[in-house]
Amino acid sequence: MNRSMRYRIPLLAVLVSTLSASGQPEAKREISFNRDVRPIMSDTCFLCHGPDASQREADLRLDTPEGAYADRDGSPAIIPGDAEESLLTWMINAADAEDIMPPPEYHRALTQEEKDIFYRWINEGAKYDQHWAFVAPAKPEVPMFAKDHSENEIDAFIRKRLESEGLTLSAEADRRRHPPLWQTGDYLRRFLVLIYQLQSTSISQGFAL
Ligand code: HEC
Repeated sequence: MNRSMRYRIPLLAVLVSTLSASGQPEAKREISFNRDVRPIMSDTCFLCHGPDASQREADLRLDTPEGAYADRDGSPAIIPGDAEESLLTWMINAADAEDIMPPPEYHRALTQEEKDIFYRWINEGAKYDQHWAFVAPAKPEVPMFAKDHSENEIDAFIRKRLESEGLTLSAEADRRRHPPLWQTGDYLRRFLVLIYQLQSTSISQGFAL
């Protein structure tokens, strides 16, 4: 492992843990197709039940509501609002290796959390969203709270989300106890780390700093 790698790994670990934390839908939030379901489906279903007709198995498309809700001789893959009766629920929980989805040879089994997401999403109506890349950005309405002198619009969004989780903002930090960054040793430390990294990068690229 070269020297610059040593600094990159913790940063990656932080990134990964932030990503996986935000990937967990909390019990109270409604399941969103784009945020919660689409990533699981593209990872585990779309290869065989997605847009590519040449790869499609069992003539089943799960990336469109028309495909997923299609009657299929009386057993639709998804019955919006009824996970219990949806064939999909049965297939992802099948005990028999011949039936279970994704098939074992696909080497990517669903976790219990992922199954729960399917289950909740179907019971909440199995609503599909357009792919986010095709949705025009719209300015969301800023949640209204009793105005706090320090509060800006971003705080209002954070506060709203915290409230939906049953949490509140902590008290504002005392500015005097938090000197500006340039007064702390932290700045110097960061600077040295940066120089160290630049140096090891340029060494690994064959240059001396
Ligand atoms: C590697 C390919 C592959 C992947 C990945 C895959 N499937 Fe399938 N799926 C199949 C095949 C093949 C069949 C037909 C099986 C049969 O008829 O015995 C099938 C059948 C189904 C059926 C039943 C269709 C019917 O009407 O009989 C459902 C529902 C289903 N898959 C859901 C899923 C879900 C949900 C996922 C992802 C979690 C998934 N599949 C991932 C290959 C795949």
